[in-house]
Amino acid sequence: MQLLHIDSAITGANSVSRQLTAQTVAAWQAQHPGTQVSYLDLVANAPAHFTSDAMAPRTGQTEDLSAAQQRENAVSEQLVSQFLAADVVVIGAPFYNFSIPSQLKAWIDRIAQPGRTFRYTASGPEGLATGKTVIIASSRGGVYSTSEGGRAMEHQESYLQTVLGFFGVTDVRFVRAEGVGMGEAAKAAALASATQSIREHAASHPTPARDMQAA
Ligand SMILES: Cc1cc2nc3c(=O)[nH]c(=O)nc-3n(C[C@H](O)[C@H](O)[C@H](O)COP(=O)(O)O)c2cc1C
Repeated sequence: MQLLHIDSAITGANSVSRQLTAQTVAAWQAQHPGTQVSYLDLVANAPAHFTSDAMAPRTGQTEDLSAAQQRENAVSEQLVSQFLAADVVVIGAPFYNFSIPSQLKAWIDRIAQPGRTFRYTASGPEGLATGKTVIIASSRGGVYSTSEGGRAMEHQESYLQTVLGFFGVTDVRFVRAEGVGMGEAAKAAALASATQSIREHAASHPTPARDMQAA
């Protein structure tokens, strides 16, 4: 089984989401000892912002590509094929300015490719990245999950759920530490709650659908 471990926090050793992705991957490996892990640090290796030079996979242009277009295509192709090859994807998604880090958004812009992760049909869009499990390690300074007002303000977990669903990923799970900016006691409680949910995922996660197809 292939697991892709992604981090996108800019906070280095102090990062809560990096701590949670590491714990999540370790728990998954303990449960599935043969898992092969690849790692993508979207801060150390940030894809550039999406530009017109990167548009060819979306427009379908394959001829007369400029050097800049070819360079951008190579970046996007590497990222989309890495994503498609994974059975399990663990994504560190810190909550920055009510949303996700721009590095993580840049990655999504690169893998959102018609014919690879989605396609449009007569009956509407269809996701093509099916059969994966995605675990989002979400870290938030404040608390947003417990009120309607909070949920309306967050464009991080809800956005990731939407875009991954658009890509055809139906098994999206969350490991959440929220309120980590609300004092030491709140942070400790948030980390304990996230650790508990990592344990529960590790104990209960079913074999990803693609594995069952292969069996
Ligand atoms: C640039 C930046 C923006 C942030 N914006 C918000 C915010 O809008 N709301 C909030 O509750 N916390 C915010 N925080 C706090 C983070 O959500 C919190 O520190 C979380 O742990 C970030 O994940 P990380 O530790 O993996 O970087 C922000 C932190 C940073 C560094």
